[in-house]
Amino acid sequence: MKINGTHYRSLWWDEDQSVLMIIDQRWLPHEFRIQPVATLDEFATAIVEMRVRGAPLIGATAAYGMALAADLDPSDNALKAAWEQLNATRPTAINLRWALNRCMETLIPLPEEDRAKAALKLAHAIADEDVEINRRIGTYGLTLIRDIAAKKPAGEPVRLLTHCNAGWIATVDWGTATSPMYQAHDAGIPIHVWVDETRPRNQGALTAWELGSHGISHSYITDNAGGHLMQHGQVDLVITGTDRTTRQGDVCNKIGTYLKALAAHDNGVPFYVALPSPTIDWTVTDGVAEIPIEDRDSREVSHVQGVLDSGDMGLARVTPEGTACGNPAFDVTPNRLVTGLITERGICDASAEGLAALFPDLIRKA
Ligand code: MRU
Repeated sequence: MKINGTHYRSLWWDEDQSVLMIIDQRWLPHEFRIQPVATLDEFATAIVEMRVRGAPLIGATAAYGMALAADLDPSDNALKAAWEQLNATRPTAINLRWALNRCMETLIPLPEEDRAKAALKLAHAIADEDVEINRRIGTYGLTLIRDIAAKKPAGEPVRLLTHCNAGWIATVDWGTATSPMYQAHDAGIPIHVWVDETRPRNQGALTAWELGSHGISHSYITDNAGGHLMQHGQVDLVITGTDRTTRQGDVCNKIGTYLKALAAHDNGVPFYVALPSPTIDWTVTDGVAEIPIEDRDSREVSHVQGVLDSGDMGLARVTPEGTACGNPAFDVTPNRLVTGLITERGICDASAEGLAALFPDLIRKA
């Protein structure tokens, strides 16, 4: 997507320096900082500290991490150690393990001297595939928005609600939940997006930054506002992303997604999830029982981060000192609350049958 007239992906390989370039998302939406990632430790830190974040982007970053590892030492043992180190960075988004396993399956059968080149080629392929998957998700999601727009008086916007940031910076490009929004806007369909702030990390501010950069009308709302807006008929469609979707269509996404799905269900608002196939965990059926939920630092809850009037970034404590805080980072929305899954192969029911019909090849391989 474009920032100040320049097209960026959220990561790219610098051939001259043999390093990965990332946008350090800790500084967004206030500063657009580009940073090189040059060692395996730096790759792991970038994911742990959420300099890069969002399930598809975490997967693509890990693939480049494996490319670096293969360049440094292509032996089986070194690659396995790199797999372990990167896989331990974040536990919930399945794209991480998906990308790491794909690297191992490709590299281990090769002679050691061929592995570095093959690993970089594969990382590029994973990044390019992500862009195409998300573009396609956008074309299918666009049909939903178009159908709603067709039933409204001319010029009246379709009102969408999204949670967290499933935007272009959470992927390599386009985003998942945002791709239909970008494509609807570009097709001249008027839309307005309610953007959940998404405490504690306020990923909604990233979504607001993205949508604003693209000229899309939006309002940033507190996490608790969505139910009220739905009750008052102000939301036509919810689209969120996902960090891991089970073979029966349970959706694990940023904490608070489940409450939005409950409110949508209670108010008859369609609740769709933009789902790239690398985010499906075919080994898991019941998401509530089986998906590990990341528990993050309590300081993300006890404090808020933002720009001070001085222009510096600052942390302010909001709780009494010493208050115990809980910080589960994701939750699971059971499939019965999900109207449909928007994938790169079309839209399906959030069910084992729906996913199996669209992805018979992947289910066989799992
Ligand atoms: O903790 P984060 O910021 O990595 O969580 C991101 C999300 O929950 C996104 O909704 C999800 O990864 C989908 S991104 C296309």
